[in-house]
Amino acid sequence: MSKRLSLPAAARWLLPVAWAAALAASAGAQQPVAGPAPKPASAGVYTAEQAGRGQDVFGSLCTGCHNIGSQSGATFAKKWNGVLLSELYIVMSEQMPKDDPGALTPKERIDVIAYLLKLNDVPAGKDALPADPELLKKIVIDLKGAGA
Ligand code: HEC
Repeated sequence: MSKRLSLPAAARWLLPVAWAAALAASAGAQQPVAGPAPKPASAGVYTAEQAGRGQDVFGSLCTGCHNIGSQSGATFAKKWNGVLLSELYIVMSEQMPKDDPGALTPKERIDVIAYLLKLNDVPAGKDALPADPELLKKIVIDLKGAGA
């Protein structure tokens, strides 16, 4: 008899603990991945060639709706400063071009991102930007003079 009574008491104690653990786990999933701080894009993460190809992509597939002004300066910085490059890659993969989402090849996506970085005064470097969302999660868009 005493055993039957003690079970619900244990359950009352265990449930909140399990619930709190689940909450902590789900909150953890939304945190940035633990590990080294993301590398700043200003360290030179794309090549001038990439940006050149990206400029062609932009000129043929984006200027129907965007112009250089709408993708640079304060307008761009407001939205993208401090954001991981992987987020911009997702926009290129899944949302742009708005009238034909998903039409860009991985190479076009990453080239046009390199061009957007160049437009926003992020310097080119020796290494090409990889079209790999996992690697892009490790690079943060840091724009000079964006008032971050
Ligand atoms: C048919 C029109 C259209 C085309 C073509 C298009 N876009 Fe967009 N784009 C939009 C609209 C509208 C938005 C804002 C609304 C939204 O986020 O869906 C947007 C949002 C964006 C954004 C996020 C917000 C911002 O301005 O920073 C980026 C970056 C972007 N476009 C880049 C591109 C690039 C690069 C291309 C070419 C590969 C492209 N777009 C082609 C219409 C277009």
